[in-house]
Amino acid sequence: MTTSVLLALAMPSLACAKVSASADGRQLRLDGGGVTYAMGVDEQGYLQPLYWGPALGADAPLVARHPAELSGFDPAGSVTPQEYAGQGEGLVSEPGLKVAFADGNRDLVLKYRSHSIAGETLTVELSDIRRPLTVTLRYTIDPATGIIARSATVHNGDRRPVRVDQIAAATYTLPAGGDYRLHYLTGRHGAEWSQQEAPVTPALTLLESRRGSTGHGNQPWFALEKQGQSSQTDGPVWFGALAWSGSFRLSVGLDNLGRPRIGGGYNPYDFSWTLKAGESLETPVFYAGFTDHGMGDASRRFHTFQRAHIIPGGDAARLRPVLYNSWEATAFNVTESGQMALAEKAAKIGIERFVVDDGWFGARDDDKAGLGDWSVNRRKFPNGLGPLIGKVKALGMDFGLWVEPEMVNVKSDLYRAHPDWVMNFPDRPRTEGRNQLVLNLARKDVRDHILDVLDRLVSENDIAFLKWDYNRNWTEPGWPGVAIEDQQRLQVQYIRNLYFILSELRRRHPGLEIEGCSGGGGRIDLGMMALTDESWISDNTDPYDRLTIQDGFTQAYAPSAMMAWVTDSPNWANGRETSLDFRFLSAMQGSLGIGANLDHWTEADFASAQRWIAAYKTVRRTVQRGDLYRLISPAPDAATSATFYVSQDRKQAVLFAMLHSSQYRDNGLAIHPQGLAPDTIYRLSVLGGAPLPDGLPAEAQGSFWMAQGLRFKLKGDYKGVAIVFEAKPDHAPSG
Ligand code: GLA
Repeated sequence: MTTSVLLALAMPSLACAKVSASADGRQLRLDGGGVTYAMGVDEQGYLQPLYWGPALGADAPLVARHPAELSGFDPAGSVTPQEYAGQGEGLVSEPGLKVAFADGNRDLVLKYRSHSIAGETLTVELSDIRRPLTVTLRYTIDPATGIIARSATVHNGDRRPVRVDQIAAATYTLPAGGDYRLHYLTGRHGAEWSQQEAPVTPALTLLESRRGSTGHGNQPWFALEKQGQSSQTDGPVWFGALAWSGSFRLSVGLDNLGRPRIGGGYNPYDFSWTLKAGESLETPVFYAGFTDHGMGDASRRFHTFQRAHIIPGGDAARLRPVLYNSWEATAFNVTESGQMALAEKAAKIGIERFVVDDGWFGARDDDKAGLGDWSVNRRKFPNGLGPLIGKVKALGMDFGLWVEPEMVNVKSDLYRAHPDWVMNFPDRPRTEGRNQLVLNLARKDVRDHILDVLDRLVSENDIAFLKWDYNRNWTEPGWPGVAIEDQQRLQVQYIRNLYFILSELRRRHPGLEIEGCSGGGGRIDLGMMALTDESWISDNTDPYDRLTIQDGFTQAYAPSAMMAWVTDSPNWANGRETSLDFRFLSAMQGSLGIGANLDHWTEADFASAQRWIAAYKTVRRTVQRGDLYRLISPAPDAATSATFYVSQDRKQAVLFAMLHSSQYRDNGLAIHPQGLAPDTIYRLSVLGGAPLPDGLPAEAQGSFWMAQGLRFKLKGDYKGVAIVFEAKPDHAPSG
């Protein structure tokens, strides 16, 4: 095969999609991005998953057959692979939907009723065999990446109520095999994005949050590979993520016939939703994809998809400006003069956005008071925010502000006026976290109040950016005031109202940008990503820890959304001392920000920061919008790591090579780039202007760099270099 054919196979460039049904309407297919997803209706009317993998020919003989019982222990209802199963008829794996009817019946058997196709969307309707309960499954395939967006809606067509106890957005079944491995992401505050790997066995693995928000603990993301067949560059990988910012649950395990089943939706923990006559409940969207080219291509497909379809503005959105944030410098001690002095220093080094963090509002001198009172503290800002914003703008930057709208301190005017607005069970103790309580956003009055306050804040001040924080999880999640059977709607209604506020605010203020934050990376998911422009992925800003944190984040999410700051050394999180150069090289692998105390910097620090920020701007489009190749993993204990970003047109690439720690002499690195145009000649230079490392040729074809690799030495601990590849103009890639 020629190189160009190989490349075409490896990249999600087959930008066409087809959604089709066989002539008899019994096979349904979605084709796109080099991927086929198929399901079929068997003789008894069950909708079965048939195939999910590399693109198949149009005439592929995919037929659903209803199995016989396997044994008395495994009746047909438990061995039929169902695309979306009701909890009934002996099902022993995780259902798509579990309900209780008003008369006590809990048997639900869903069969195919009809389907319709509109463009790239397939809609399939299932219904119970006896009761007027229907489930509508929606599938939309992305032509470029083959990623499928799936969701489900349950509708109660009966006059009597039905209680929904569990509902998945989607369930997936893969061919039986004992060699699947699950990749998932876990963490805690300051230690998010740890990569985990485990065999897929009949013991169910639950990735979940019971916290009311996505949480630091588990990510609603998975990837499944085949042991021995899949790697960074090769082999099948199925991957996906649930676009939901509340309590969620993903389950992964082998069913009673050894087939992996993956499901995901609202967490059934502390959840129920009673559907009255004629009511419906819709799930969030579960996005999932397939590649035959390893974990690297799986994440690049997902990044491409997120940039095009999730992150606001798509590829046309503004590149992330280099921001300054005052939090690590001043904490709550913000004043007009102090912030103005910082702004002057920030402007000199090339900062484009100046963000005032916590402490500017209400009686906020520490974390014990003020949350809920979103009006400026007149002691700290005697003339309001106007003079500071004016100064920041005159210095050529735009202005951003920290808010945490979903929370309240007991010591606040808001709480004194509306003590009933917090989530609580009457007559029970309420747990405070960071001295704060969670407002019950599921209430319409609370939702409207928050929207109104933020709308006014942004209307009355020239604010380009909000950092939207959320610094505790739920405890005692009571919603007094609504009917008892509706109180557990909280889990869903809260998040829907959060989405409403964010989208309405964006609609009213189209220029406003928002950063999602929750004590670092405690609420990152595709739901928040769709309504925010960037994410604060961890409060841990140590540049070495960040390498693994960033590596974990980018398994699932696009680097363009990933904010990374240069802060002070020693780092607050772990006391590690690192050079300013190393801190820049680490943070420049995402969307760059500065969070250091500029009042403590030397002239040399300012000069160096100015040089790095200018250099970053020359490669930021490639870092933020290019394809990321993880060349050497910074896994704990690895001495080195390397990431490689290639621009969409493959005319520029940038390599970040990091030496974590030296042992013995001559730490020789051998780094093999990927994704370059093979026939193009690339000229190399060191980002920031230093000479190329000894022994590196200054120019060669892409094929040379990819095959021969870059071989050079770094010495010391916490050292690094960024090498830029520029296509020579007369050798620019053709396609
Ligand atoms: C959280 C955020 C920090 C900072 C503080 C302010 O911890 O993650 O970046 O904004 O709140 O209180």
